Amino acid sequence: MSRFPLPIPNSWFQVAFSDELDVGEVKPLHYFGEELVLFRGEDGEARVLDAYCPHLGAHLGRGGTVVRDSIRCPFHAWRFDGTGACVEIPYARKIPPKARVRAWPVCEKAGFVMVWRHAEGAPPRWEVPDVPEYHDAAWTPFERREWVVRSHNQELAENTVDQAHFRYLHGTNTVAETEYRTEGHLLHVISKSKVATPAGEADGVIDIRAHGFGFGMTRFKGVVETLVVTSGTPIDAERVHMRLSLAVRRLADSDATRGVGRAFIAEIERQFEQDIPIWENKIHLERPLLCDGDGPIGQLRKWARQFYSEPGAGEATR
Ligand code: FES
Ligand SMILES: [Fe+2]
Repeated sequence: MSRFPLPIPNSWFQVAFSDELDVGEVKPLHYFGEELVLFRGEDGEARVLDAYCPHLGAHLGRGGTVVRDSIRCPFHAWRFDGTGACVEIPYARKIPPKARVRAWPVCEKAGFVMVWRHAEGAPPRWEVPDVPEYHDAAWTPFERREWVVRSHNQELAENTVDQAHFRYLHGTNTVAETEYRTEGHLLHVISKSKVATPAGEADGVIDIRAHGFGFGMTRFKGVVETLVVTSGTPIDAERVHMRLSLAVRRLADSDATRGVGRAFIAEIERQFEQDIPIWENKIHLERPLLCDGDGPIGQLRKWARQFYSEPGAGEATR
């Protein structure tokens, strides 16, 4: 039986960083339990299609090449545009009307290449948010960290509102007050808390915004200001590709900025590496036994239901 009786959620998910995909470059992807191909046309636009060519099944991401704004199959040179339509068969007079592959909605913003995944192929329900700090010279460029975690997006989302674990797993100070609010696909949590800084602990505010499952921003405001863009893309129903992008607001002194940045990244990595063994070995309880100090885990689960449209992996066994 699956450890996670939950399907893969519907949301925008990161499939690459913009600078990982040059103009004319092709990359195979494996996300959402599917084989996909990502390419950047000569017009600079990123596109994602199903990987298998409908002709005889070659993988477009393994040897396919970009021709103008389309991708050419390595096997017999059929070409597909960004909508997935076959636009050329160099040795045929007629293109069979069914010659097309599924195209995935793509949005590129603030250095993130995002794909809309929906189990039934419904169109995007919201827009990918911008990350203002990415464009702001007052902030350092993003540092990145990546992991593949044997877990489910639901578990990673619950972690952010699981107040007790901050104290007992991460050893950080207790959260004084938490405001929790949801607005459609958006989850917004504001916590007043102690924030670790190189100069010791200080009072601070943690502002967490989750834009659906899989993409969110955590901002720490106190003596220093920091940002973590958290991205978790399902590889399949039991593995998530986690990407963190971290930045700090520059201080007057560049050595101080570097020091704060290093300490901040080390702290985030430390916490993350404490969460991973818990995530990789736990199961998802549909009826957890919660107590009054747990924080809004139940509310988060209600909000999360909107991202599931297919029966869970465990549904058939219950
Ligand atoms: S398999 Fe792709 S063109 Fe033949
Ligand atoms: Fe955690």
